[in-house]
Amino acid sequence: MARYLGIAAALAAAGASALSPEQLLSLPRRGVASPSPNGKISLVTTTQYSFEEQENSAVIQVLDLKTGNLTDSAFNASEINEIAWLPGSETGIIYINGTNEEILGGVTIWIGDAANASASKLVASLDAPYSGLKVANTSLGNLNFLVNSLAYANGTAFNPQSAPTPRSTARFYDNIYPRHWDTWLTKQRYAVFGGTLLGNASYALADSGLRNLLQGINYTTTRPESPVQPFGGSGDYDISSDGATYAFLSKAPHLNKANFTASYIYVGSFNSSSPAVAFNSPETEASDAGHKGASGVPTFSPDGSKLAYIQQDGDYYESDRWKLYVLDISNDGTNISTSNWKGLASDWNRSPDSIQWAPDSQSIYVTAEDYAIVRAFHVPLSAEADFVPQNLTSVTSVSGISVLPDSSLLVSATSIWTSRDYYLLSTGGEKKNLFSSVDVDEALSSLGPHTYSEFFYDGSLPDFDQQLHALVVKPSNFSENETYPLAYIIHGGPQGSNGNIWSYRWNFQLWADQGYVVVAPNPTGSTGFGQELTDAIQGEWGSYPYEDIVLAWEYIKENLSFVDTDNGILAGASYGGYMSNWVQGHDLGREFKAIVTHDGVTNTESAYSSEELWFMRHDYKGSPLEPNSTYKKWNPLNHISNFSTPQFVIHNTLDYRLPESEGLLLFNILQTKGVPSRFLNFPDENHWVLDPENSLVWNTEIFNWINHYSKGTDLDTEPIGE
Ligand SMILES: *[C@@H]1O[C@H](CO)[C@@H](O)[C@H](O)[C@H]1NC(C)=O
Ligand SMILES: *[C@@H]1O[C@H](CO)[C@@H](O)[C@H](O)[C@H]1NC(C)=O
Ligand SMILES: *[C@@H]1O[C@H](CO)[C@@H](O)[C@H](O)[C@H]1NC(C)=O
Ligand SMILES: *[C@@H]1O[C@H](CO)[C@@H](O)[C@H](O)[C@H]1NC(C)=O
Ligand SMILES: *[C@@H]1O[C@H](CO)[C@@H](O)[C@H](O)[C@H]1NC(C)=O
Ligand SMILES: *[C@@H]1O[C@H](CO)[C@@H](O)[C@H](O)[C@H]1NC(C)=O
Ligand SMILES: *[C@@H]1O[C@H](CO)[C@@H](O)[C@H](O)[C@H]1NC(C)=O
Ligand SMILES: *[C@@H]1O[C@H](CO)[C@@H](O)[C@H](O)[C@H]1NC(C)=O
Ligand SMILES: *[C@@H]1O[C@H](CO)[C@@H](O)[C@H](O)[C@H]1NC(C)=O
Ligand SMILES: *[C@@H]1O[C@H](CO)[C@@H](O)[C@H](O)[C@H]1NC(C)=O
Ligand SMILES: *[C@@H]1O[C@H](CO)[C@@H](O)[C@H](O)[C@H]1NC(C)=O
Ligand SMILES: *[C@@H]1O[C@H](CO)[C@@H](O)[C@H](O)[C@H]1NC(C)=O
Repeated sequence: MARYLGIAAALAAAGASALSPEQLLSLPRRGVASPSPNGKISLVTTTQYSFEEQENSAVIQVLDLKTGNLTDSAFNASEINEIAWLPGSETGIIYINGTNEEILGGVTIWIGDAANASASKLVASLDAPYSGLKVANTSLGNLNFLVNSLAYANGTAFNPQSAPTPRSTARFYDNIYPRHWDTWLTKQRYAVFGGTLLGNASYALADSGLRNLLQGINYTTTRPESPVQPFGGSGDYDISSDGATYAFLSKAPHLNKANFTASYIYVGSFNSSSPAVAFNSPETEASDAGHKGASGVPTFSPDGSKLAYIQQDGDYYESDRWKLYVLDISNDGTNISTSNWKGLASDWNRSPDSIQWAPDSQSIYVTAEDYAIVRAFHVPLSAEADFVPQNLTSVTSVSGISVLPDSSLLVSATSIWTSRDYYLLSTGGEKKNLFSSVDVDEALSSLGPHTYSEFFYDGSLPDFDQQLHALVVKPSNFSENETYPLAYIIHGGPQGSNGNIWSYRWNFQLWADQGYVVVAPNPTGSTGFGQELTDAIQGEWGSYPYEDIVLAWEYIKENLSFVDTDNGILAGASYGGYMSNWVQGHDLGREFKAIVTHDGVTNTESAYSSEELWFMRHDYKGSPLEPNSTYKKWNPLNHISNFSTPQFVIHNTLDYRLPESEGLLLFNILQTKGVPSRFLNFPDENHWVLDPENSLVWNTEIFNWINHYSKGTDLDTEPIGE
């Protein structure tokens, strides 16, 4: 520990204002703001890690939407798993308390007042660790709510703390999808449950208890599950504002989960026991029109008459363009009928990823990646296919928007230079800043837009009429009279992007503040620049993207006089890790002093041990069984004879999509060849390093490695060795 702090002190001394790993990792992490129904205040959940105490703490804060004042509430956030506003009230709240004194492993629902932490009352005791609360206030004054939990096949919610401990640890499968992301599949699946709190009985839970809304849906191959794991949450389902109708998404019941991404949206009547029915499954208007892929963010209009959602066309392409849809929903109390299904701005060459309705139910606000920034856009229901939504925001990236009662937007944003901004955007486009972390967090005080720039250069893709984008981040204490070695960072995906966002994992400002200029290119395969660029990487992992990366490097060498390309380093994770291995085997690899590879692909054929076979099928155009496959063509192992640049290899044990054998294989090859190399593993981390103590080691050891090879500093930390 002391050793790491010593390095930090040394780094801080090098430039008084440089951001250190400890400072980054101990910043307050402020969530997306959630405004009260009357639009006067907003709740913000903030977590913070303390290296002194070695623990995380959480606080629920209140943001005053008039003054921008962000103050701690009196609520004990460590007891509150999640919190929501009570619809129809001024300052009423409803929350899930993680403690249930009656049922071990259960949770409780409480109703209270944001303005008075002593006013909370326990209203319901739930017998499993439910989460993802969504609430509607019905015309009878009852509260209909949705939550989710793992459930047994018979529909009963699963409580791990009261379940019997199995006698063996065996895992036994007869289907192709035994594990995913960082979790081995068990017999339980996630399900959405509905319940009612009775307004005439102090909001006691109705005797009917909770109903599993997925029970009774027939399937042939894949048991219905919602939220879809591992990233699905309450955004995978919704309840109409009158509490009468619910919607959720689940993967295609007739397709296997390894080969396909397709998912459908089911709608049902809250007070009916009839199973929910999907409106975009096969043999529906949507499916017949060719929209067969993954669905997302089903969201009821405020008046409950419509549902908006997004869907991809391809049923096994996870990065296909997301398109926006809306349809009418009516509910006679038992049966749901849908009509007027329509695509909105369907030709728009961007992928909307979130949906918020305007108060009058006549238009929708979405967010989408656009030129390396996540921006907000407005789409009226009248939009035809050729409608091109105009961006309402730019400069910083939107992490969440809420529409206030007066139709102005409350925006939560980040960028390379701020970990959190909150601002209001009026319908006329006027921006009113409420809060910025750079004004209050001392560690961020020297940051600002001055460290960020971008450039465009000619790429390699034939017949592509745009230049390619790269972002540049300078040290916060940049001096125009100095040059800084290049830190060239390749993004993952490969259908992803290097964007103007804040990250606690790959924080470009932190890298720059170690005395580098970060250049992060967006080569062929990148998202946010139109679908053609994204799609063009299929079957081409080592061609266009590599050539683009060479071209961007040449551009830097010729045009960015403050960048020292002679002492540069290259780093990347996931596909960026694959590309760093590809570069290691090619000419560009000789231009770097060191390479850093995090959870990458070493042998493209063994990458088929991933559970996401849809991804392999799509990106490599089939399986490795096919003769002369693109797996063989783009395998970094074909070029091991060229491996010679010092390489730092990180690979985590819980990464099931890219198993740690990929990192070990790379490390063994480097060691066998006598190429200077180190191997760093976290047994408790997945594709990402999330624990702050682990992240401190990750950052420190990477910087130690690149500083040694780029700047000649001592390799002063000690691996385990022999
Ligand atoms: C912000 O809140 C604090 C604590 O409640 C208060 O002392 C201060 O006056 C407030 N500032 C503004 C601008 O409202
Ligand atoms: C908050 O709740 C936790 C868990 O119940 C408890 O240990 C802690 O003392 C509480 N903090 C305060 C300030 O009441
Ligand atoms: C539900 O809405 C009604 C008005 O429509 C209101 O009187 C009632 O207080 C609301 N219930 C809650 C719990 O906010
Ligand atoms: C959470 O539940 C526990 C146990 O009932 C209770 O002592 C505590 O006050 C509750 N906390 C909140 C914030 O409701
Ligand atoms: C807060 O709620 C408690 C319990 O209901 C009540 O006794 C108290 O008067 C309330 N305080 C305020 C300021 O309203
Ligand atoms: C469902 O199965 C679980 C585990 O076997 C069992 O504990 C539970 O009682 C069953 N529920 C019903 C309704 O049969
Ligand atoms: C409370 O409301 C429920 C339905 O909303 C109804 O079934 C019940 O009879 C009501 N109870 C009383 C005491 O009014
Ligand atoms: C599910 O299958 C069973 C048995 O074939 C059938 O009785 C039932 O109606 C089906 N349910 C739905 C919702 O299709
Ligand atoms: C997955 O899809 C491929 C290509 O269509 C097919 O060859 C394979 O049999 C499928 N696997 C399963 C388990 O369905
Ligand atoms: C939309 O994006 C463009 C390009 O970045 C920018 O110049 C413009 O100011 C943005 N519009 C708004 C309203 O933010
Ligand atoms: C850069 O060098 C010039 C000329 O030597 C000097 O005038 C200037 O102050 C220097 N700038 C910085 C930021 O050090
Ligand atoms: C295999 O692929 C390579 C590279 O695309 C190509 O040159 C060669 O002709 C192919 N061989 C066969 C037998 O298809």
